[in-house]
Amino acid sequence: MQLTDQFLRKINYLRVSVTDRCDLRCVYCMKEKMNFLPKNEVLSLEEIERLCDNFIDLGVEKIRLTGGEPLVRKNIIHLIKNLNNKKTFTNLKEITMTTNGSLLKKFAKDLKNNGINRINVSLDTIVKEKYKEITRFGNLDNVLEGIEEAVKNNIKVKINTVVFKNFNDDKITDLINWANNKLLDLTFIEVMPIGDTDMPRHMQFVSLDKIFKELNNTYNFNKSDYRTSGPSNYYTSEKLNIKIGFITPLSNNFCATCNRVRISSTGKLFMCLGQNDFVDFREILRSDRGDNYIKDRIRFALSVKPKRHDFIINSEVKPYINRHMNETGG
Ligand code: 5AD
Ligand code: SF4
Repeated sequence: MQLTDQFLRKINYLRVSVTDRCDLRCVYCMKEKMNFLPKNEVLSLEEIERLCDNFIDLGVEKIRLTGGEPLVRKNIIHLIKNLNNKKTFTNLKEITMTTNGSLLKKFAKDLKNNGINRINVSLDTIVKEKYKEITRFGNLDNVLEGIEEAVKNNIKVKINTVVFKNFNDDKITDLINWANNKLLDLTFIEVMPIGDTDMPRHMQFVSLDKIFKELNNTYNFNKSDYRTSGPSNYYTSEKLNIKIGFITPLSNNFCATCNRVRISSTGKLFMCLGQNDFVDFREILRSDRGDNYIKDRIRFALSVKPKRHDFIINSEVKPYINRHMNETGG
């Protein structure tokens, strides 16, 4: 079984936000005062699993759990265990997670034992005070210890770093050196105008095209053939033992090879991170409709998956996506 959208893109990758809650408040992701959703608006773990089952039946091979922070969701390991079991008798090949790492020390072993072999950890700085500043109250040591624990448990860790103007854009080589010493691949991400934040987006945004050119003088990058199923372009360098990725939704559009859709914590299927269109599954899951109907709605959603996002960041226009990243995950 293979799912394709209206542009014949093969869709085999599902990202599932398991909670809108997070123990941090990264300034580019949220406002300081966030209202989280009442529990009954968020899908139960059983509802999430049922949706995943239907996607897997239709050809999804890879599931990434995101948030908010997925590890703050109660009994998340139970869901992972159930999904992991499906690898033996379904299309599902891989389960991954994107986490802020703050609870990783506690959960790394459970993740590994339940079939998670790769995770992305979000980390924008390796300076303690700056980490607190960008996350509003995070503790860097927790994350660093969490990463160590994950590595110790043979989980492959990739670092995701959002490049934020006047915050870490002049510290990129520090991050590269740190990651290189630890042998962790590192991906830089452009700020995207998703959800309203306390500071206007144009004051946060830095083009990675520019950063890439500067770094290339030092590292003399070679384009790597390596691709995850993601939008990242990877580079290697004679001077480095790791791969460096660049995710540039603003400066280079990568929608033509998009292979994914996203389920929000409330059961909305977002066909594109950069558009507001969605198909709601929560009401269907809570009605007496059967799985065939769910599959029909999934097929319908893909038939209207937008061609591309229309992100714009400048001081005059304010066409941001009217939901926050913690609803749909990254
Ligand atoms: N733009 C770009 N990246 C973002 N993230 C959260 N909000 C944004 C945004 N507005 C990142 C997080 C994490 C991933 C899930 O998305 O730092 O690495
Ligand atoms: Fe939490 Fe991730 Fe948003 Fe930071 S970016 S507040 S860690 S969901």
